[in-house]
Parts: sequence; C-alpha cells; structure tokens
Amino acid sequence: MKILSNNLNNRDIKLNFANLFMYKTRLYAFIKKISPILWYTRPMTKFMIHLFKNKKLIGLEIGVEYGLNAKTMLTLLPIEKLYMVDPYINNDQMYRETRKYLAKYDDKTIFIRKTSENAANEIPDKLDFVYLDGAHTYEAVKKDIELIYNKIKKGGILGGHDFWANEIGVCKAVLEFVEYNNLTINGKLTDWWIVKE
Ligand SMILES: C[S@@+](CC[C@H](N)C(=O)[O-])C[C@H]1O[C@@H](n2cnc3c(N)ncnc32)[C@H](O)[C@@H]1O
Repeated sequence: MKILSNNLNNRDIKLNFANLFMYKTRLYAFIKKISPILWYTRPMTKFMIHLFKNKKLIGLEIGVEYGLNAKTMLTLLPIEKLYMVDPYINNDQMYRETRKYLAKYDDKTIFIRKTSENAANEIPDKLDFVYLDGAHTYEAVKKDIELIYNKIKKGGILGGHDFWANEIGVCKAVLEFVEYNNLTINGKLTDWWIVKE
C-alpha cells in the first residue's frame, strides 16, 4: 500500500479552522448553502478537476443529505449524469429541500431514494467517479466499496469523506481494502481517494 498525502496549504488550514469554529451553527448552514463552492469544495473534487479536465463524466454520490457536495461537483466538474443515492429515512422535508436546491441541474441528476445496498441495480456500470459519504460504520463502508468498485472504469476515481480520526470505521474499511488490493491511496483532510488501475 502506498499513501500519498498532499500537504495542506494555508488557505485549506484557515478554511478548516473556520469550519470547526462554525460547525453545525445556523450561520454555518446558511453560508454553506449560499456559497458551497468556497466552503464545501472537497479535496477529491479539486483533484478531479485537474484529472478529468473537460471529459464528460458519469458519477455517483452515496449519501447526499442537503446536496452541498453534489452542488459543488455539479458546478465545478463537466458532469453529464450524477447518480445520487440517499434513503432520506423519515425525512421527506430534507429530500424536498434537496430536490429544490439542485433543481437547476435536473437534466443531469438522478435521485435514487434508497440505501446504497438497495440501489445497486439502478446504478450503471462504467462510472468515472464515486464519492462515498453514506453510512459511516466499518461494515457499511466495506459493503459500499465492495458494491461499487466493479462499476468504476479503469482510470476512474473511488473516494469519499470523513477519512480522519473521528471516523475509525471509515479509515479501517478503506485502509483494509487498499492494503488487500495493493493500491495507492491519496488523502487530504478529510477526503480519501484512489485511482482505479
Ligand atoms: C454526511 S451525510 C452526506 C453529506 C453529503 N455527502 C455532503 O457532503 O453534502 C450522510 C447521508 O448519508 C445518508 N445515508 C445513511 N445511510 C445510507 C445508506 N445506507 N445508503 C445511502 N445513504 C445513506 C444519510 O441519509 C445522510 O443524508
């Protein structure tokens, strides 16, 4: 297993401190929604901007919530179709708000309101990228990786969120997979990703 760790720059560090400071306050929720590009662009998305340039992409996000990460990806990447899987269990309001928030991208988005396990048949093969941010237990992440890896093209990206000490289950499942398959993992607070060989 090889680990590529990209150094944080000063701007990343400032944004991460600001994120921690405002975490889960109403102000943070408001700012994130009106300016997700500034506050929410994930390291894996930045990596994909350079990797894929203008290539038309078919992508998948598992765990969508209010659609903030989906919005940054839809804005910054040349996405043709983004499959978005989230069961929104007992949360019709969040589902409705998210549909409204991303309405501008209706022609590019496919919502699958199911758990990742139940959505597998509706997810196409030959994905360019997958971003995992659904259930965060060791078992769930392990299952999601196993479910999805074969559906990613060679040269495509598998990655996700919360690869840090607060989420030991995520770290364990990801590192086990990477080590078992002798892959190279990239990490930058708080994302992980691999390029499928
Ligand atoms: C951390 S949030 C996702 C945040 C989103 N990726 C973002 O950054 O904007 C986690 C989401 O995963 C969803 N979720 C939980 N279990 C899931 C499962 N088994 N399959 C798919 N999504 C799941 C939850 O409903 C929740 O909305």
